[in-house]
Amino acid sequence: MNTFLEVAVDVAQEAGKILREEMERPPTISYKGDFDLVTQADRRSEALIVSRLQKYFPEHAVAAEEGTGKSTASEYRWHVDPLDGTTNFAHAYPCFCVSMALARKNELLLGVIYNPVYNELFTAARGQGAFFNGKRIQCSKIDALKNSLLCTGFPNHDRQANPNIHFYWDFTLRSHGVRRDGSAALDLACVAMGRFDSFWEFGLNPWDTAAGVVLVEEAGGKITDMQGQRYVLGGPSILASNGLIHEEMLKVVAEVSGHTLSHQ
Ligand code: IPD
Ligand code: CA
Ligand code: CA
Repeated sequence: MNTFLEVAVDVAQEAGKILREEMERPPTISYKGDFDLVTQADRRSEALIVSRLQKYFPEHAVAAEEGTGKSTASEYRWHVDPLDGTTNFAHAYPCFCVSMALARKNELLLGVIYNPVYNELFTAARGQGAFFNGKRIQCSKIDALKNSLLCTGFPNHDRQANPNIHFYWDFTLRSHGVRRDGSAALDLACVAMGRFDSFWEFGLNPWDTAAGVVLVEEAGGKITDMQGQRYVLGGPSILASNGLIHEEMLKVVAEVSGHTLSHQ
């Protein structure tokens, strides 16, 4: 496990260097959907990560966002987001990262999230705790929604169909505020280190959440879907919290869902 983690850290930092380099140039933006951006930085970072993982672990499967991974019969699978926060990157807003996780069968073993602008490295391995730049981290101890700082995100695709604005509005009125930082992986890492007390979003992909899930769980937090059921990678929604405000948040979600549906 530690070898896997060491390799993942090295590779994420190497990919982070590429993102730093690319930041110095004007971004080359193309579109995967109406508002779904992809840049040369996404592609170069992914090429580096996939080639390194293939070199170190040729039998492992790699699921990477830009589609250059490979499927194998191996029970090990890497979930790779070579640049989480592409829209931020394209606007030079320094909130983006490399996110990598390793799963064996359906169990997530480790997660690494690296923000190369601030040199912030988040790591976690199952049963071994979560770390920020080498120091152990824990979720916050805030135990009431009214004292919490929350975070959410809105997808780049199917925007009209996304119900999140209702939840955003309601949680804003019930908490210290809701941030929308534009990188789901970093949002989850921030829950793990107590900067945020909770994060939720609809419609995320496995590469957005896999590393962050390990971090939050290893930092003592809780992950479910927005109905309070077990979260499945790539499922329709995720609710991550410090554990202490989880039930209160689920009650609000149920209330807002009922209200929203009754007005449709
Ligand atoms: C996006 C970011 C964003 C979230 C979107 C994701 P990308 O990933 O994580 O915070 O709101 O749903 O698609 O496209 O920058 O890798
Ligand atoms: Ca992403
Ligand atoms: Ca991405």
